[in-house]
Amino acid sequence: LRIVDIIEKKRDGEVLTKEEIEFFVTGYTNGSIPDYQASAFLMAVFFQKMTTEEQGHLTMAMAESGDQIDLSAIEGVKVDKHSTGGVGDTTTLILAPLVAACGVPVAKMSGRGLGHTGGTLDKLEAIEGFHVEISTEQFIQQVNELKIAVIGQSGNLTPADKKLYALRDVTATVDSIPLIASSIMSKKLAAGADAIVLDVKTGAGAFMKTLEDSRQLADAMVAIGNEVGRNTSAVISDMSQPLGLAIGNALEVKEAIETLQGKGPADLTELCLVLGSKMLLAAGKAASDVDARAQLQSVIKNGEALRLFGELIKAQGGNAEVIANPDLLPHAQYQIEVPAKQSGYVSEIDADEVGVAAMLLGAGRATKEDVIDLSVGIVLCRKIGDYVKEGEPLAILHSNKQQVDDSIKLLQDHIYISAEKAEAPSLIHSL
Ligand code: URA
Ligand code: CA
Repeated sequence: LRIVDIIEKKRDGEVLTKEEIEFFVTGYTNGSIPDYQASAFLMAVFFQKMTTEEQGHLTMAMAESGDQIDLSAIEGVKVDKHSTGGVGDTTTLILAPLVAACGVPVAKMSGRGLGHTGGTLDKLEAIEGFHVEISTEQFIQQVNELKIAVIGQSGNLTPADKKLYALRDVTATVDSIPLIASSIMSKKLAAGADAIVLDVKTGAGAFMKTLEDSRQLADAMVAIGNEVGRNTSAVISDMSQPLGLAIGNALEVKEAIETLQGKGPADLTELCLVLGSKMLLAAGKAASDVDARAQLQSVIKNGEALRLFGELIKAQGGNAEVIANPDLLPHAQYQIEVPAKQSGYVSEIDADEVGVAAMLLGAGRATKEDVIDLSVGIVLCRKIGDYVKEGEPLAILHSNKQQVDDSIKLLQDHIYISAEKAEAPSLIHSL
């Protein structure tokens, strides 16, 4: 095989074979194919796209390019959830103990990542003593005993994706559904999932801003998953405003505890029930949506889900007393109100800008080296559709500095208020 022939074939819109795709992925990962040829290949895919079968081959080749986590020593169907990311998305912290309490093994590998707030790992580290660096053996043992464990990414997972993603970033080829879908799915497969539930976000605060693009990405990932033999389903959920009320690491842990107590924000609770139901169905633990939902609601009501969150914290060295006493979480020195500049209904919240306001307070990272302040963030007092009087708070900033004019201005400028009554957006766009 010669890479130039493979580039030409894709350039002319032909369908590549498994061998040709593997040749490209292997060659680029080991350095025998140079950046300029890989760039030409990616641009050809950008314009000519790929069939589901080709995307399946690309996904598998990337998943197999480095270490793969073997979860076969864990009994039962290992269901992973993946969200394409948004602002204040606290779902993993809630879903993991929620579905584990229903008997689904949760072997979660999470990331830190860049963004408005930390990743799941950073949030968990807001709990004093919690550590995520445990060996693979301990990880598997903990899941077998407790049904739940969360670790950071260890080993050399999907090096092909890391290298290709960096190249796409500088060759204007990020925005390609076959490339995004195979990138995301390769990481889920390498992490050992038998079944995958995808939460594809849509709206102003999401990676995919339009419903049409989100639907295409969801369809592509579901098709790839099923092509490579993993039961895969997707939900498209709203990110036109932040999910829940809290944005910030310790603040989101508190919100997760409240949600596990059955006292969480309605949208966050509902999304967890929808995603959790899909996870129970994929694991064969529920006969129907109605049955799944009833099981999830029952482990919230009887305290089992919250108890398991406490067990997880204890097993990984954290102070489980935060469950009963969330005031033990780190908290910021100042709480500063963001007053509404006029009376009316909140008609729109630019989630991305709320995220930026949280980042300015220190809740997130702009570069990999940045240190997060786990105690800071934003708690929204109003969401789309709510009425607010001039001078009443739109949000409360939790900050360790007194000078927060930039965050206040961002929120006042991007939480839009209208005289007419506004409708709350629907949370779930498509199942
Ligand atoms: N997230 C990923 O993991 N990969 C992409 O290509 C885009 C977003
Ligand atoms: Ca939240």
